[in-house]
Amino acid sequence: MPSVEPYDMLAAGYDVVMAHVDYEFWSAYVHRLLSRHADDAGIDEVVELGGGTGTFALNLKRRGGYRYLLTDGSAPMLAEARSKIAEAGENIRCVEARFPGVTRAGLGLAHPVDAVVLVYDGLNYLLEEADVRALFRRVAALIRPGGVFVFDQSTPANSEDHASGFTDEGTEGDFSYVRESCYDPETRRHVTVFELSVGGRQGRERHVQRAYPPQDIRALLHESPLTVEAAYDGFSTDPAHERSHRVHWVTRRAPD
Ligand SMILES: C[S@@+](CC[C@H](N)C(=O)[O-])C[C@H]1O[C@@H](n2cnc3c(N)ncnc32)[C@H](O)[C@@H]1O
Repeated sequence: MPSVEPYDMLAAGYDVVMAHVDYEFWSAYVHRLLSRHADDAGIDEVVELGGGTGTFALNLKRRGGYRYLLTDGSAPMLAEARSKIAEAGENIRCVEARFPGVTRAGLGLAHPVDAVVLVYDGLNYLLEEADVRALFRRVAALIRPGGVFVFDQSTPANSEDHASGFTDEGTEGDFSYVRESCYDPETRRHVTVFELSVGGRQGRERHVQRAYPPQDIRALLHESPLTVEAAYDGFSTDPAHERSHRVHWVTRRAPD
């Protein structure tokens, strides 16, 4: 089976694999965080990084009435997003962009925005601390003073508590997948291999993610131009703790 880049083939069936995810709930939660942490200027314009096939974007835009820019580093994921957005009759601009190297010019932004969001493990795809550091610096430059960056991370506790891995599979129409996921607690690397079939074409994708301890993310944020407003446990407004599986961070670019 030939190897292909992450999301090159998975894009066609990403929404099938993610059918269990309640994006309405997730976007309502992020909308709540944005509202709770907005400064007096409010939040009107949002940029999403790693937005994938756009389900979260469609939900969050509708909920908050935001002006919305969806970005992702995978052209096939973005193609799925574009057709879904067109079908929904929504106005969401889509730009192909890889983080951490995002710039206002690259995204076609004339001015800094009120908020940037990155959800569902996008940060975990950055394998080096230097890249996380660069992400925080670059995102701070996209946001106006007082604006916020909301992102989530999957933690080592999440990977540890789901044993060393799992295997599953699924089919819908001419898309099918077999997924094998494995976590190495020493390197904190989580490797997921997808064997995919899309319209009769076969391919294998290897996705490598890193599970950062939340205290490491906090330390990297402290070095950055962003200040930490909150680190929430899961989808709550309780503080994250050492066994949190998912942490939602709310950070702010300091006002001038
Ligand atoms: C697990 S998916 C999440 C997609 C979407 N946020 C969601 O909730 O369904 C991770 C997404 O991050 C994107 N991604 C991963 N690393 C990236 C990078 N360095 N730059 C831009 N996008 C990236 C992938 O292409 C993929 O669409």
